[in-house]
Amino acid sequence: MKFSTKSIHIGEEVDFNQTTSGDVIAPLHLATTFARKDVQDPTRGFEYSRSLNPTRQALESKLAALENAEYGLAFSSGLGAETSILLALLKSGDHVITTDDLYGGTQRLFRKVFEEKFNIQFSFVDTSKSSLVKNHITNKTKLIWIESPTNPMLKLSDIQAIAKIANQNGIITLVDNTFMSPFFQNPLDLGADIVLHSTSKYINGHSDSIGGAVMVNNSELYERIQFIQNSAGAILSPFDSYMVLRGIKTLGMRMREHHRNSQQIAEYLEVHQKVKKVIYPGLNSHPQYHLAQRQMKGGGGMITFELDTNLSKSKKFVENLNYFSLAESLGGVESLIELPALMTHASVPIEDRRKLGITDSLIRMSVGVESTEDLLNDLDKALNRI
Ligand SMILES: Cc1ncc(COP(=O)(O)O)c(C=O)c1O
Repeated sequence: MKFSTKSIHIGEEVDFNQTTSGDVIAPLHLATTFARKDVQDPTRGFEYSRSLNPTRQALESKLAALENAEYGLAFSSGLGAETSILLALLKSGDHVITTDDLYGGTQRLFRKVFEEKFNIQFSFVDTSKSSLVKNHITNKTKLIWIESPTNPMLKLSDIQAIAKIANQNGIITLVDNTFMSPFFQNPLDLGADIVLHSTSKYINGHSDSIGGAVMVNNSELYERIQFIQNSAGAILSPFDSYMVLRGIKTLGMRMREHHRNSQQIAEYLEVHQKVKKVIYPGLNSHPQYHLAQRQMKGGGGMITFELDTNLSKSKKFVENLNYFSLAESLGGVESLIELPALMTHASVPIEDRRKLGITDSLIRMSVGVESTEDLLNDLDKALNRI
């Protein structure tokens, strides 16, 4: 089955069992508990919805299929999934190597919870240089956690090369694939052990559900993470599972449109006189364009660019747009825009922001699937006004 066929059919096979009505979609099962006829024989394996719920189970099998994985797990949020993985894999004294410009919420979880409270050590490394990853490995390193592309600088890490280094040293590799979605990048196929998504972004795609997903091939890893999913309880609710099942059906179509709009907007911005620089993996000016061509199937829907002006004019520009809502988050059908220095990355210390290249006039855009012409006109008008 190809991507869009899987996204529509897996987990939603019509059940012709006489007790069901033959729904063509997975029904929404809100029950918290399931009755059984026989004390020792839970009906169809369902006992209590934290442990297993039919709607969540349908979603989990679809999520697995999209990343070419054996197993999928759905969590209450991307961060709920991250917490569950850390609890499943690490103990006090362990060491993790991770990307330096990681999503801010993930950094907060690492530094303020797992480092401060549980004595797990994190090295924040420029993972776009695979040799640096190798240099930071110690005998305590249990996990390499990468985001590619990063947020907001859209730096890429060579997943295949890093997974190989990790594997040679008995270390688990995790890739946060939220920015690419399973349509444009499949880290397990490149040798990673765990793929993580915030389904709040492209996978659900309609900015109306917070959730997280984990996909793996190894049964032992699956059992360890699933044990924490049930023990700690950060599960996706049946209603949100239903929403995500619904959103996924158009994931392929949406990603093609996000990419098509982004490519045209990136090309437009690149030659605009008020724009200093554009970062987009689909432009051949991207410093790692060749890696993008090798490991990704498209440039995605995120563009970062710097205006050739100061903070107040950059604020004016983002406030003057009609179709780009001034909002954090990404991956929905509607276009969003934000100033990382004042919004998503305001909590990153100023020296770190400078080191990463997050200037006051740097802008991050999540390009939606509106008509290209309207988006280009909107940008053009707002640029002309500054
Ligand atoms: C790359 C990335 N990973 C993880 C998360 C956390 O996901 P959630 O907001 O669903 O907890 C986010 C949220 O913005 C993200 O951008």
